[in-house]
Amino acid sequence: MATPTMDKVEAESAASPYITVTFRIRRFNPEVSEEAQWQDFQVEIDPKERVLDALHKIKWDIDGTLTFRRSCAHGICGSDAMRINGKNRLACKTLIKDISPEKPITVEAIKGLTVLKDLVVDMDPFFQAYRDVMPFLITKGNEPTRERLQSAEDRERFDDTTKCILCAACTSSCPVFWNDGQYFGPAAIVNAHRFIFDSRDEGGEQRLEILNDRDGVWRCRTTFNCTDACPRGIEVTKAIQEVKRALITRRF
Ligand code: SF4
Ligand code: FES
Repeated sequence: MATPTMDKVEAESAASPYITVTFRIRRFNPEVSEEAQWQDFQVEIDPKERVLDALHKIKWDIDGTLTFRRSCAHGICGSDAMRINGKNRLACKTLIKDISPEKPITVEAIKGLTVLKDLVVDMDPFFQAYRDVMPFLITKGNEPTRERLQSAEDRERFDDTTKCILCAACTSSCPVFWNDGQYFGPAAIVNAHRFIFDSRDEGGEQRLEILNDRDGVWRCRTTFNCTDACPRGIEVTKAIQEVKRALITRRF
């Protein structure tokens, strides 16, 4: 086999897509220190790769103690929401080339929930609020003998809010939720909306009463942070407004 010439090797190396990117990660380990601290990692990476790929490189090749959640790696499971360059995003959906890799890229845990370690937060309060709005079909009377039918228009009414993957990017971007964590938060309201506006459901009044609470929909200050943060493109603020309107008019 012919040995490649020096020119060819240099040309190939010049065409390499890899660049060195600094990832500045906010580390926290309660077994080591009560204080969180930033740590820099230099990663050789193709800018067309995602932040999740960089986190994998760091964990597998540089520091195995780096702790974060992820599962599907394809924007479906909702487990890898984190603050990247100060904005809530899914690490598996964020391309490095889209977030100024020439400067250090900051990565930290989402806000408003207790950090357990590094990028992992305690999701229990988030899921408790989700459970509290009864995110399941409620019907009365006997079991139907056939499928519950619904018109295309009626299905369209709550189509947007069916897309939620419970990543918490919206709730943890909300200043009201940061304040005391008592507010139900956008994600719980989105999932209540999904059933309140479902023509087959008969639990709308119950859900509205749950959200007609001092920690319910009226805490929303319409800042739109939630809509900006949602990786599924759900119009979160609009859904919250629709629930508020349903509470006033009792029409849904
Ligand atoms: S509404 Fe969007 S941001 Fe909020 S939990 Fe659902 S998918 Fe995530
Ligand atoms: S790892 Fe599942 S959404 Fe990112």
